[in-house]
Amino acid sequence: MSTAVLTNRLDLDSVADSSLKAAARFWFVVTVIGQLMFAFAVASFYGLTALRGDFHGWSRFISRGYVSGDTLGNLAVVMHVGSAVGIMLAGALQLIPQIRNRFPAFHRWNGRIYMLTAVSLSIAGLYMTWIRGSVGDIFQHLGSSLNAVLIMLSAAMALRYALARDFKTHRRWALRLFLVASASWFLRLMFFLSLLLFGPVGFDPTTFRGPLLTFLSFASYLLPLAVLELYLRAQDRAGTLGRMATAVGLFVLTLAMVAGVFAVTMAIWVPQVKAAYDPRKSIAETLSATIASSGIDQATKQYHDLKAAEPATYNFDENELNSLGYQLIRSKKFKEAIRVFQLNVEAYPQSSNVYDSLAEGYMDDGNKPPAIANYQKSLELNPKNRGAVEMLRKLNAP
Ligand code: HEM
Repeated sequence: MSTAVLTNRLDLDSVADSSLKAAARFWFVVTVIGQLMFAFAVASFYGLTALRGDFHGWSRFISRGYVSGDTLGNLAVVMHVGSAVGIMLAGALQLIPQIRNRFPAFHRWNGRIYMLTAVSLSIAGLYMTWIRGSVGDIFQHLGSSLNAVLIMLSAAMALRYALARDFKTHRRWALRLFLVASASWFLRLMFFLSLLLFGPVGFDPTTFRGPLLTFLSFASYLLPLAVLELYLRAQDRAGTLGRMATAVGLFVLTLAMVAGVFAVTMAIWVPQVKAAYDPRKSIAETLSATIASSGIDQATKQYHDLKAAEPATYNFDENELNSLGYQLIRSKKFKEAIRVFQLNVEAYPQSSNVYDSLAEGYMDDGNKPPAIANYQKSLELNPKNRGAVEMLRKLNAP
């Protein structure tokens, strides 16, 4: 082999190595930033609402957030979201090589905290899924439960190889643990990216069931685990082309993750942070308590009275009544949900979304004609509402 050919090969080889390293670094930076944003939104929302004593406000982002009298269930939610924040902070610190190499004692302690939070997060998640009850069907529940099992298994394996001082195998299990513990984050990215690109297809927005969510409840960890195995193989034994191809693939997937982080930030994290730092009282919260104690007529009167007397004290934003209506639908209180959505239509007559929700209330209550009329009105205000087109097709309407 001539010297020129050999030099070219060596050049290509080092380009492949640097590309793979750069792609991994890009992936890591996007993941850490995205997870810190998730942690910040969750800590701000659940933490600050709890400090204000507005525990019922949790139901805006979680189907069974705070339930009066269910001490164990409420503790499970606190343990779950608390561990979720802990695991994302500890995970980021654990994988940064500079910290790992310069502060080995910190790495060991942080690793123990990480494993402990992984186990408490999983146990609380299993309790919320199977005992307390949550959105989703049996297959989605099996998907998240397998996730919990893999989190605990990977934590045990990472610990075992660290204690045996087999750091190569420890590193592999630690990476697997990081990925399976990031499944919930990946799921949000994939779900909201799909929503941004294709609209509300593949799932039912009220029950959160459907083929897309079933697929994501497994793919959210199986896909990242498969990519990790490909990456580790490329690092160990792939040729120049293999490493180049892996680097390009990882780079493209990371770009998709950037789009996913953007989608979930706009859809969930910004509203969560806004709600966390909003000093106004939640009108949904107030009406929810009145519906439970005195019924929907009293709650409707209270809504009008408060809006007239204290418009700045309460939060009358569109999503307040909208989320209250969906909470009522989930509790099968369809008549109450319809009344709440009607109040929102009165307040926001130009919003396509409020008619869409009202239509859904009527549909779930088995009242087809007003469901069709409201889906049509929603479509008139927003011709891009693909969900309404789909529902009108199901209802055999023009
Ligand atoms: C892997 C890391 C996980 C993280 C970071 C995480 C984080 C969260 C967060 C922040 C919430 C509150 C909803 C929100 O504000 O977005 C939540 C809800 C929930 N999580 Fe997890 N979770 C993880 C894993 C799991 C696992 C493994 C299970 C099941 C075994 C599980 C079961 C649940 C359930 C049932 C809910 C309530 C959903 C609802 O009904 O609305 N989670 N999780």
